[in-house]
Amino acid sequence: MDKPMVDNIVEAGARGEAELTSVRSLKQLEAWRIAHLGKKSMLMESLRGLARLSLEERKQVGARANEVKGLLEAGYKEKLDRLKETEFAAAVASQSLDVTLPGHPVALGRLHPTTQAVNEVCQVFVTMGFEVIEGPEVESEYYNFEALNIPRDHPARDMWATLWVDQPGLEGGQRALLRTHTSPMQIRTMETRRPPVRVVVPGKVYRYEATDATHEWMFHQVEGLAIDTNITFADLKGTLYEFARRLFGADRKARFRCDYFPFVEPGVEMAVDCFVCKGAGCRLCKDTGWIEILGAGMVHPEVLRRMGCDPDVYSGFAFGMGVERIPMLRYGIEDIRLFYGNDLRFLGRF
Ligand code: DAH
Repeated sequence: MDKPMVDNIVEAGARGEAELTSVRSLKQLEAWRIAHLGKKSMLMESLRGLARLSLEERKQVGARANEVKGLLEAGYKEKLDRLKETEFAAAVASQSLDVTLPGHPVALGRLHPTTQAVNEVCQVFVTMGFEVIEGPEVESEYYNFEALNIPRDHPARDMWATLWVDQPGLEGGQRALLRTHTSPMQIRTMETRRPPVRVVVPGKVYRYEATDATHEWMFHQVEGLAIDTNITFADLKGTLYEFARRLFGADRKARFRCDYFPFVEPGVEMAVDCFVCKGAGCRLCKDTGWIEILGAGMVHPEVLRRMGCDPDVYSGFAFGMGVERIPMLRYGIEDIRLFYGNDLRFLGRF
């Protein structure tokens, strides 16, 4: 056997294995591969010399050389796998997500403050057994006025400065208008229902008025109507008192004073004691200690008749309130025009 050649092969193998242990990166490993398994490596050079040997020697030395080559290749393969794994883990660790970094802000949509107030008011009445219904904003003079006991020349029409709509051909020469209140839905409701009836009607209403901090030409109301046998003023008070306490605080006091609306008799205006100064007097309640929140009354016998209800058998109460007033009072908003000014700096606060 060619002794020096075998020595060379053994040495190449030993050196290769020794050096492999100190390889720490894929880059070093590639350099190692070229040095120990590449064309110019000591091992490959030795293998090329095999041609010079006799057949017998070539078999023996060749077997030895292949053994060494196999060992080095296996070592290389194992190292390669291990280094790939550790380098991948290191990359993941260095690029991993920092969950403490602030994220990109997302602009969230939300309900308009009026919508929120409408929902809240309706929800209170729903829990008391009222149903929520809606009606048309373009109304006829009949529903908005006449059927509500406000004939054409009645001075009470001055309470509702009206936006008329140029829409000919309504039944009976009726004029069309933008409803000035949600009360016409009292009549419409009773055209299709029989007592007992308990409904609330949220919706937009319109007034022909110059706008200022407390007046808008469009705003929202919630109307209420309850008709049945044996409904008394005590039911009106109990229902609205409960409503006021749910909305403005359980310690609220309520005050009812006479007021005039042609479609109720008696008619009242309801106020709660000021929830800011508790009645002592402040800017919100204009030093009166009281805040008016709605109009109400017992449905007028004339109106009951229009509804097809015999006033000797049936009775009922009705109420109506402005919706924007609720967030205005709560949050101290001093200008109603902010609600429909479409300024997101305002709307985004609710
Ligand atoms: N519709 C009245 C208004 O717009 C408010 C109102 C008062 C409604 C008394 C009612 C009521 O149902 O009974 O000023």
